Amino acid sequence: MADPCSFSSFSSCLTKHLNLFLHVDFHRHVIRGKVQLTVEALEDRFAVLTLDTRDLDIRSVTVNQQLAPFSLGPKHSFKGTPLDITLPFHLSRGQHVIVEVTYETSPSASALQWLTPEQTAGKKQPYLFSQCQANHCRSMVPCQDSPSIKHTYYAQVSVPKDLVAVMSAVRDGQESDPQDNSRLIYRFRQPVPMPSYLIAIVVGALENRQIGPRSRVWSEKEFVDKAASEFSETETMLKMAEDLAGPYVWGQYDVLVLPPSFPYGGMENPCLTFATPTLLAGDKSLSNVIAHEISHSWTGNLVTNKTWEHFWLNEGHTVYLERMIGRCLEGEPFRQFKAMGGWKDLQDSVNTFGPNNPLTNLVPSLEDVDPDDAFSSVPYEKGFALLYHLEELMGGPEVFMGFVKSYIQMFAYSSVTTDQWKDYLFTYFKDKVDVLNSVDWNAWMSTPGMPPVKPQYDTTLADACIALKHRWIKAKDQDLNSFKECDVKTLSSHQLIEFLSLLLQEDPVPLTHVKKMQEVYNLNTFTNSEIRFRWLRLCVRSRWEEAVPMALKMATEQGRMKFTRPLFREVFLFDKFRDEAVQVFLAHRAAMHPVTSGLVAKDLKVDVSATVIQ
Ligand code: BES
Ligand code: ZN
Repeated sequence: MADPCSFSSFSSCLTKHLNLFLHVDFHRHVIRGKVQLTVEALEDRFAVLTLDTRDLDIRSVTVNQQLAPFSLGPKHSFKGTPLDITLPFHLSRGQHVIVEVTYETSPSASALQWLTPEQTAGKKQPYLFSQCQANHCRSMVPCQDSPSIKHTYYAQVSVPKDLVAVMSAVRDGQESDPQDNSRLIYRFRQPVPMPSYLIAIVVGALENRQIGPRSRVWSEKEFVDKAASEFSETETMLKMAEDLAGPYVWGQYDVLVLPPSFPYGGMENPCLTFATPTLLAGDKSLSNVIAHEISHSWTGNLVTNKTWEHFWLNEGHTVYLERMIGRCLEGEPFRQFKAMGGWKDLQDSVNTFGPNNPLTNLVPSLEDVDPDDAFSSVPYEKGFALLYHLEELMGGPEVFMGFVKSYIQMFAYSSVTTDQWKDYLFTYFKDKVDVLNSVDWNAWMSTPGMPPVKPQYDTTLADACIALKHRWIKAKDQDLNSFKECDVKTLSSHQLIEFLSLLLQEDPVPLTHVKKMQEVYNLNTFTNSEIRFRWLRLCVRSRWEEAVPMALKMATEQGRMKFTRPLFREVFLFDKFRDEAVQVFLAHRAAMHPVTSGLVAKDLKVDVSATVIQ
């Protein structure tokens, strides 16, 4: 099991279950933890167990309740620190032991963001959230932190009694903390085996609303009603996904809306999807992110990439399912429209990385690469493009969904590599092996840049966006009066996003043009995050100075990396404001999510290694 991102996967054993005791300390910004790992030996004379850790203070280790010697190895830049535990006895193959580690997290744990009351909507209570994918679980729990290993978990979390704890599991009751009556203990159980990167926790002043027979939304009370209406299609989408992919095995499907600094659009934590508040557009137009996270309940959480090198198996199939749900809701032309937008996102990623960059391979080598640095649209959209190409070759969406459903059934509860996926594809389509052999697999999988085949997507919904883009890039100053508010009034928000994305692929529009665009379309007043993000980028790129404060405001008021990183980068590339971008970043850095601040620092070439964060 060669996971280049984990020390523990080289140890010949498997974690079967985690029993967690977490004491959340908001004064010191640490979690005091105790974890009992049920570990099975995979070989005879098994004597040394290695776990992944990162910035953890290890207090003691016992094995079957006997104190055991342990040592921490040298710290690796992104893999963290291996924790070697010497067992007091040898295990034979198949034997189980319970290893108990008592530890404390660091205030700068990369999986955790601690928010002060001022950083929350309610302003009264502090807030804690985790984000473990890809390799941050080890900064919260010492464990075998590799997606190749699956286990169940049980957790008991002690928090101040005014706060609520939720986890990526089924809620299993609460009680007063017997050691401290100012605290409550919340209990959780996750009976479905899952990889460590899906362990998740939030503690805050949370409320919830029921939105379906197996779904609630959770957030601070300020957002909960808005979230309930934004995500009202959840049960419909779940049923569609079950129809496409098979039964939903995780019991509950809740959505938690995080504070604005949450670094992703969504995160598929089992039983409890995490979502950025930037999805609250008011018109459900960004609900594809929920369709996406729902889809991960099958591709990702049931069938999991064996290492992060095979990340496209998680994300490519999930985008494929997400767009199949979109097809059920809005029709085939809508799926085609979204697929075309995805191809463009892929082009943008290939351009940013450079067409020869090995990180644009569908299956990149991550030897010595931090998965956070490798993250891009490539696994999502090259992955989707490959699956769509195969769909066309194999006989259309219904036929290809047959394969996807069967692949899910075949590999449920396990972790897979691209070779296993491909072997199964050839087995499933055994009558069409000739066609499969005509695919240039090497070009798709192991060659950087754009894919070898460009699918032909139906342009019904894109035509209006393409036409309007052409009018703007062709327009001379004297033509500007031909633009009218109704140009965009007839476009859906999806189409407006597409129109702006198309413009962003062109050379910068003259400043006169963006000013006119503001005059006739009044895009400054749009609050839909996907529209505002593209519009502000466009303005900054056209060197509109007045847009700079707005762009930096959006970059700092929310922290979704998809928005924050390009907005900072765009201002940074505007020579006159390069220093301002850096200054604004430095001023906000302490309040930012640790992963976001690390990546923005790299983007802006800021050396923060010498300065202390908190
Ligand atoms: N699992 C990802 C988010 C992620 C990936 C976190 C890698 C950490 C490391 C999630 O499912 C995702 O893909 N979110 C997207 C949604 C979009 C593709 C619809 C996002 O955050 O924008
Ligand atoms: Zn995803």
